Amino acid sequence: MNHQAEKLYLYPVWVRIWHMTNALLCLILIITGLSIQFSNPSTVVKFNAAVTVHNLAGIILTISYGFFFLGNLFTPNGLHYVISVKGFFLRLKKQFLYYTIGIFRKETAPFPVDEDNKFNPLQQVTYVVLMYGFVPFVIVSGWGLLYPEMTLYSVLGISGLDLTDLLHITAGFGISIIMCVHIYFCTIGKNPTSNFKSMINGYHESH
Ligand code: HEM
Repeated sequence: MNHQAEKLYLYPVWVRIWHMTNALLCLILIITGLSIQFSNPSTVVKFNAAVTVHNLAGIILTISYGFFFLGNLFTPNGLHYVISVKGFFLRLKKQFLYYTIGIFRKETAPFPVDEDNKFNPLQQVTYVVLMYGFVPFVIVSGWGLLYPEMTLYSVLGISGLDLTDLLHITAGFGISIIMCVHIYFCTIGKNPTSNFKSMINGYHESH
């Protein structure tokens, strides 16, 4: 393999701008969200300030999500999010066995990165669940809490607002956990920092 072939341009500028904005907003939302949830007089971010910043960051996140959604709809980046059903579980199993066993035996990755497959099967399913499940879910439920008069008054005898709140917190918690796992897996690249550099300069470095 020549030197040129080891570097692939996988992250176009718009993906990098979106990702940077999104990561920053999610960090702000997690910190202020936790401050609201576990509010007491000595919390780092005071309750009123936490609510204002959380609401504002949520509004900006909605816009940035719209940007991501349209970007994936109208550019080839969206193709990486299309999961092919054929052999799906077999591919997941292969990648899982690589992450749990193969990688420690220094085996080669079962799904090497190339221009048509920038995500391995586990990454692909995680990103799809995250970006088309958890994130829109947290956004819609967040708007429901911002405008309580829009949410259902009661669902099967349970307060609609309480239910929306529970769903919002569960989705937020899910995103926080996935983000921690996501950052850990990003360290498994050519070297521990190479994937982070990819998201800055756009080029993926292969092993
Ligand atoms: C400080 C926080 C974060 C860091 C350091 C980080 C780091 C990275 C890195 C290095 C990549 C490129 C490697 C790869 O192909 O997987 C990446 C991709 C990605 N990240 Fe993150 N991330 C963070 C937060 C988030 C959050 C909060 C989300 C979503 C809620 C997210 C969603 C994604 C997605 C969807 C991709 C693939 C983008 C594409 O190429 O289409 N990340 N992240």
